[in-house]
Amino acid sequence: MNTLSAFSPLPPSQTSLAREPLTLQVSLDDPEQSATSRDYPIVIGSGLLSQPSSFQELPKAHTALIVTNTVVGPLYVRALQEALTPHYARVLVLTLEDGEGAKAWATLNVVFDTLLEHGCDRQTVLFALGGGVVGDITGFAAACFMRGVPFVQIPTTLLAQVDSSVGGKTAINHPLGKNMVGAFYQPRRVICDLDVLGTLPGRELSAGLAEVIKYGPIADMAFFAWLEHSLDALMDKDPVALAQAVARSCEIKAWVVGQDEREGGMRAILNFGHTFGHAIESALGFGVWLHGEAVGCGMVMAAELSHRLGHVDRAFCDRLQALIARAGLPVKAPDLGAEVYLEHMRLDKKSQAGEIRFVVIRQPGVAQVSSAPDALVRQVIEHCVHLP
Ligand SMILES: NC(=O)c1ccc[n+]([C@@H]2O[C@H](COP(=O)([O-])OP(=O)(O)OC[C@H]3O[C@@H](n4cnc5c(N)ncnc54)[C@H](O)[C@@H]3O)[C@@H](O)[C@H]2O)c1
Ligand SMILES: [Zn+2]
Repeated sequence: MNTLSAFSPLPPSQTSLAREPLTLQVSLDDPEQSATSRDYPIVIGSGLLSQPSSFQELPKAHTALIVTNTVVGPLYVRALQEALTPHYARVLVLTLEDGEGAKAWATLNVVFDTLLEHGCDRQTVLFALGGGVVGDITGFAAACFMRGVPFVQIPTTLLAQVDSSVGGKTAINHPLGKNMVGAFYQPRRVICDLDVLGTLPGRELSAGLAEVIKYGPIADMAFFAWLEHSLDALMDKDPVALAQAVARSCEIKAWVVGQDEREGGMRAILNFGHTFGHAIESALGFGVWLHGEAVGCGMVMAAELSHRLGHVDRAFCDRLQALIARAGLPVKAPDLGAEVYLEHMRLDKKSQAGEIRFVVIRQPGVAQVSSAPDALVRQVIEHCVHLP
């Protein structure tokens, strides 16, 4: 997927997502093993989780292991188990604790214990049923077990459907840092069942919308305009609007990742709003603001920085801020003091030799990584903590 096609909205009459799911293909170059394709489909539709046909033509195996958590498992694991039963002689379920704390060595070992105690082998297929936490840990377990077994992502949060399940980053946290231990490892398929978003709390939906909105300023202002038009429908979980938002977000992410799988350059634009956002998350203490909330506010700050660097006009900043606010996300930056922001941002993974690197909007729809003078960044923080 080396060119990004123009945005074309689904016709409003597309009400048959249950019968005709959308399929996108993620294309990845493999310089080492060109004979082995690591391309995989992202399937988006209604009711996919409970249909055996969603799981046809995956690698053959005796055993499947579903990894889920205590919130998502009770809602959806039985339907998934039944849909997998025609394909695998044995379908095991492992239910982890809910929350970011599960992305830890101890949990990873529980996954390995389960696999080994049940005599699983190199063919065993792992299914991640949950949000980004379950996806990240299951993907990393799949990358490591027997040096790599196939895995399938079944993301159940909007954030996971539009972001974390696509792109092949897997990780656990270390006490000294988030996502510090992990691997690039691609799933064999991503199944985005829009129906599961029905049980997602509103705050989590808004957090996912932050990552959806992000794709507009960095890559596609036609999509951004469509989001402005469709935000109410998205907040109401309208299935056609959700399908469109998930599909276009995945298309843009797959296009970026297809060019730069291992974040040598271009992939960094996906971190728009994340430099300021991570500073908010870590300074307030992880979990006080959801990641998407911090990214929403961080995008307002990064847009302001882009404006002060002379790239975009104030009207663009106002437009972005208005959409972020409509999505139920905070736009006013927490008043942590500029030095606290700067200190946390210097620890960001994009920093080079202590110089903070920001994703800025060069022009609406085009992003680039850039440094900025500390004095200017202080002005941006000052401006954003005083927003109404
Ligand atoms: N790998 C990547 O590229 C990447 C990208 C972005 C984020 N992430 C990671 O993703 C994680 C965040 O993901 P998240 O926002 O999905 O959080 P999460 O997995 O913690 O899910 C949020 C909450 O919603 C619950 N939930 C999930 N699906 C539900 C449903 N359908 N109905 C009701 N409740 C449901 C979860 O149990 C949890 O309580 C972080 O660990 C982050 O580091 C990874
Ligand atoms: Zn993010």
